Amino acid sequence: MSLEIYPSILSADFSKLGQEVIDVIDSGADGIHVDCMDGHFVPNLTFGAPVLKSISSLKKVPFDCHLMVTRPDDLIEDFIKAGATGITFHSEVVHHLQRSLRRIKDAGLKAGVAVNPATDFAHLEWVLDDLDLILSMTVNPGFGGQSLIPAALEKTKRIDQFLKEKSVREKIKIQIDGGANKETAREAKKAGVDILVAGSYIFGSDSYSTAIAELKG
Ligand code: DX5
Ligand code: ZN
Repeated sequence: MSLEIYPSILSADFSKLGQEVIDVIDSGADGIHVDCMDGHFVPNLTFGAPVLKSISSLKKVPFDCHLMVTRPDDLIEDFIKAGATGITFHSEVVHHLQRSLRRIKDAGLKAGVAVNPATDFAHLEWVLDDLDLILSMTVNPGFGGQSLIPAALEKTKRIDQFLKEKSVREKIKIQIDGGANKETAREAKKAGVDILVAGSYIFGSDSYSTAIAELKG
C-alpha cells in the first residue's frame, strides 16, 4: 500500500490559497491538511474556520483539520460547519478526551488525537472505540520546515504494534506530521504510517506532482 499524502497548506502561498488546494489535489494528493494554530499551544498563529470554509468545497477530498490550540472544544463546532471532514486535537490539552472525540464522531467526521514527540500514547487504549486516527507528531508543532525527530518515528512504530495487538489496526489510521521528505517518507512507510502530512517539501518544490510522487514512493 502506498502512503496517502496530505499537503499542509501552512506552506502554501496564501495569496492564491484556493488555486494551491486545486493544484496539489490535481497533482495526486489524497487530502488537504489544515493547520490551525492559536499562538498559545504553539508559538505561532495561522487561521481558523473562515479560511477552511473558503476552500473546503473546492475539491471532494478529505479536509483534515489539525487543531494546535489550547481549547479545541471551543472550535470544534465552527470547524464542522466550515466543512472539515476530520478533526484532530492534541491530547496534551484536552481534559475529557472521550467526550471531545464523541462530539466529532457524532457529527459524522473522523476523529483524531495528536501526540507531541515527547507525549506517550498509552492513554489512547481507553478511547480506541471513538478513535479514527492517531497523529504522531514527528516535530514539535508550530512551524513548517523542521527536521523529523527520529525518536518520534520509533514511537510511531510502537503505535502501529500497539494497534495491531488491540486488533484495531484496520480501523484506526496512523498519520505523521513534520519533516517529510523523500528519505523520511521511506522510513514512514516502514514504520506502518498510513497518511503522511507534508508542507514545505511539496509547496517548496517546482513540481507538485513530482514531489507527491516521490513521497508516495
Ligand atoms: C507543524 C504542522 C505541520 C507542518 C509540517 O506544526 O502541524 O503540518 O506544516 O510542515 P513540514 O512538512 O514542512 O515539516
Ligand atoms: Zn499539522
